[in-house]
Amino acid sequence: MKTLNFFNKLFLIFYFCTSGLFSQAHKYQPSPENLEARTWFQNARFGMFIHWGVYSVLGDGEWVMNNQNISIEEYEKLPSFFNPIDFNPSEWVSLVKASGMKYITITSRHHDGFSMFDSKVTDYDIVDKTPYGKDVLKALAEECRKEGIKLFFYYSLLDWNRDDYFPRGRTGEGIQGRGEGKWDDYIDFMKAQLKELLTNYGEIGGIWFDGHWDQKEWDGKHFGKEKVNWNYEEIYGMIHELQPQALIGNNHHIGVIDGEDFQMFEKDLPGKNTTGWGTALDQIGSVPLEVCETINGSWGFNLQDRKHKTDKELIHYLIKAAGYGSNLLLNVGPMPNGKIQPEHQKSLKSIGTWLKDNGFTIYGTRKGPIPPNEDFVSTQKGKTVYLHLLNPDLNIIHIENGPVKIKSIKHVDSQKNLSFRNDKFGLVIDVSNLLKDPIHTLIEIILK
Ligand code: GLC
Repeated sequence: MKTLNFFNKLFLIFYFCTSGLFSQAHKYQPSPENLEARTWFQNARFGMFIHWGVYSVLGDGEWVMNNQNISIEEYEKLPSFFNPIDFNPSEWVSLVKASGMKYITITSRHHDGFSMFDSKVTDYDIVDKTPYGKDVLKALAEECRKEGIKLFFYYSLLDWNRDDYFPRGRTGEGIQGRGEGKWDDYIDFMKAQLKELLTNYGEIGGIWFDGHWDQKEWDGKHFGKEKVNWNYEEIYGMIHELQPQALIGNNHHIGVIDGEDFQMFEKDLPGKNTTGWGTALDQIGSVPLEVCETINGSWGFNLQDRKHKTDKELIHYLIKAAGYGSNLLLNVGPMPNGKIQPEHQKSLKSIGTWLKDNGFTIYGTRKGPIPPNEDFVSTQKGKTVYLHLLNPDLNIIHIENGPVKIKSIKHVDSQKNLSFRNDKFGLVIDVSNLLKDPIHTLIEIILK
């Protein structure tokens, strides 16, 4: 009995020591460059998402292959008439700057499987298959570097074209001509492409993965078990090794997986999950956050999408995202000729004009002490809290659990000090006499 106990104890000691060691060895430790890049990312607050591919030609979004059940044979005709002769990277980048955006995230390969860069591991790419014949990512990367804009690559994990994307996922079921290859070959293919993206385009901002959810069981309402092994440990490890500062995010709609550097929220403010398939509140991690949203209702160019968001909606969304401590990655889908729709250019420039005056309340801030709602949002920098009043009809601001120690409160436009009451009933600020802006009225709270 005694000996058994002794061996049991020995085993337990051995188990705890080694499991501790192993789990530590496996746990991802971001490098100093990576941590620095995360801070840069959080301070940047606003970026441009670009969905551009051969699908743009059909003017019906980036899911057109799936939505219209276009067979592989039919879809493969598209590259032969993708010829974006008006693509001018310097126009894009100057629009990005005029909009007050600090980075770009562009689709390097979407679910249709077509690579928008010069890949040596497939010839299903822009250089080999289109009359244009040039690597648009290379041209954009060069321009971004010149202009001090960071470039991230969106990369689809899901693929409707390749045979080795097998087992197939939930989507693309009606696409004729899909074969049955080997999953391991697909992983090798992705690794080889990611290596290209991380070695041929200089220093990049990071990789934005999407499509993970394709390989999850789905009962029409809830996601279930994972069906495949994406080999994230190996893939993420390779990215961090090749470019330690590159940030990894994955639009998988679940909590942060070890090795990821930021967390994204698709068409939802962090934790809101109005879409039903978004990331839940209790899955928000401690890494930087990014919300992505469309400027109309589509990601890829959609000719008949008339749901262009108003300047007010866009500015409010940017403020709200910042109030949740998150970046906003605002999407445009350039047309097949390489131009960004004029109406979108106009809205983007309006945001830029607003940011020229108000950027100090967004860039470099963190979420404020007052939780955002439809009427007001707070951001914070040091002891200054920026209270963004979004509802011009509000006369009294009442915050139940506001900051306790307040030195002063003023209306920034008029520089007038505002009277307030701050006691056990909460913080009450009288804004009835202010000349309010229809979009945004700025109130500055200085904490003690
Ligand atoms: C979804 C869509 C995809 C789009 C992405 C952007 O995952 O499937 O088409 O690229 O959202 O967030």
